[in-house]
Amino acid sequence: MKLEGRVAIVTGAAGGIGLAIAHALSREGAIVTVADIAGDEARHAAATVEAAGGRAWPIAVDVADPASVSSMTEAVIARFGRLDILVNNAGIGRTALFLETSIEDWNRTIAVNLTGAFLVGQACARVMVQRGGGRIVNITSTSGQRGGRGRAAYGAAKAGLDLLTRVMAVELAAQGVNVNAVAPGPTDTKMVEAAHDAATRAAYGRLIPAARYGRPEEIAEAVVFLCSDAARYVHGHTLAVDGGFTAAGMM
Ligand SMILES: NC(=O)c1ccc[n+]([C@@H]2O[C@H](COP(=O)([O-])OP(=O)(O)OC[C@H]3O[C@@H](n4cnc5c(N)ncnc54)[C@H](O)[C@@H]3O)[C@@H](O)[C@H]2O)c1
Repeated sequence: MKLEGRVAIVTGAAGGIGLAIAHALSREGAIVTVADIAGDEARHAAATVEAAGGRAWPIAVDVADPASVSSMTEAVIARFGRLDILVNNAGIGRTALFLETSIEDWNRTIAVNLTGAFLVGQACARVMVQRGGGRIVNITSTSGQRGGRGRAAYGAAKAGLDLLTRVMAVELAAQGVNVNAVAPGPTDTKMVEAAHDAATRAAYGRLIPAARYGRPEEIAEAVVFLCSDAARYVHGHTLAVDGGFTAAGMM
């Protein structure tokens, strides 16, 4: 097992990609805090990790709320005495054209997808620096690298998180903390079910060289790699897990 005994927090882990990450980390021996704004769903999700033979602990958190983030971090340290891995995965995926994006939607999207990762990242990195090291993986998106229609707020937040990843990596490398990002392309989860109609799915089918959507487990495997000792010299990298979508050209 690559992560035996390590203590991890995965935000937004009640379902979708976050839950797949929680399962994958726990299969490698990590003890996983399943953190989500949906407290009941986090409890259910943690139970599925335990049922599969792993160790998991649910906690309710709003990553956009500094007080909620502090109490989560303190609770994890009080319970396990250490923190080795953070996966900043919580996110919301509202879609609206630029001219129609309301200030409320803009603010909430930036608050959860960018400020949330900043708040949780800072709280956890402080603990990791004190203990001499750790791993942080931020879940960004191809939408943070390409100008997709309807992705003004979401794409801007994810682009910001990509840059924040590099700044964190540069500032924390000498203190033993590796910070990297995984940028999924379209991945079959509830977020995508809500946002992609049949025409969008067909278009992606043509644009993605692998000719299909990703599966949450495939994103999770990349996260496990970045959390493992095999990635000890990888700092500030954004790993695209997108079936070749961002690599593709016009022909
Ligand atoms: N599914 C995709 O195609 C895709 C592609 C690229 C990037 N992503 C990113 O991957 C991550 C997971 O996406 P998903 O598709 O699994 O979505 P999802 O909607 O299935 O899961 C997101 C989880 O985050 C939680 N959450 C939302 N706001 C929160 C908050 N304020 N505090 C704590 N938890 C909160 C939700 O309750 C939910 O459980 C997101 O950051 C998303 O932007 C997804």
